[in-house]
Amino acid sequence: MMKLICLKNEREVSIRAAEIMSEVIKERPNALLGLATGSTPVGMYRELIKKHLDGELSFKEVRSVNLDEYVGLAPDHIQSYADFMAKNLFDYIDINKENTFIPNGAATDPEAECERYDRLLDRLGRVDIQLLGIGHNGHIAFNEPDVCFTKDTTLVNLTDSTVKANSRFFASEDQVPKEAISMGIGRILRSKRVLLLATGEGKADILEKALFGSVTPEVPASILQFYQGDLIVVGDEPAFKIIKQKHSEAIF
Ligand code: PGA
Repeated sequence: MMKLICLKNEREVSIRAAEIMSEVIKERPNALLGLATGSTPVGMYRELIKKHLDGELSFKEVRSVNLDEYVGLAPDHIQSYADFMAKNLFDYIDINKENTFIPNGAATDPEAECERYDRLLDRLGRVDIQLLGIGHNGHIAFNEPDVCFTKDTTLVNLTDSTVKANSRFFASEDQVPKEAISMGIGRILRSKRVLLLATGEGKADILEKALFGSVTPEVPASILQFYQGDLIVVGDEPAFKIIKQKHSEAIF
């Protein structure tokens, strides 16, 4: 079932998303969270930290898996997603870091690291709620537009557009790694719930294509139309601009 929630602005999106995540944790204190990086979830992480500092939410038994990591960056590298998670969430909450899992970008054999990550995902079981952002090209995690949907964790070549989009976090474009380890689409679809966040007008076009256009690996997020679990899409007015014009009846 797909539920679309359109809110006024990014702040409201962050607050609502944090509420949805915290309900899952309260219901199941040792929930397995599927976490994501990028700029979209930063505000939601801030709200979760606030809930924790207010004594409303504990992550003591929570476990987490992240979607992806750049190849070549060690976990303590400032641009790595491991460092992003530490700085944006883990360092400020009571989660046991031994229960947080992210592919190792510094593994000498990235293919073997994909295999190891899949075995770990098998052991951990189904994700209770998978958080997702959406790339301008429709990618989810680092599953770029392709001729087929990926199943398991894979070593991916980042497209020029993704490298360009992510260069804003690096000193220059040539410092952006060209490869990443990414959880496959098949793995994402196994989660019990998916929470997709989108903010800003820049996402309006791709969000409409992904949720209402043809289901095709050229728009990886479009597979979510076939997802069997609960899909909750929370976005702001600018991100929902095209959907509002074309499918206003679908908005919750
Ligand atoms: P963003 O990235 O949140 O930085 O826009 C989303 C994504 O690429 O998945």
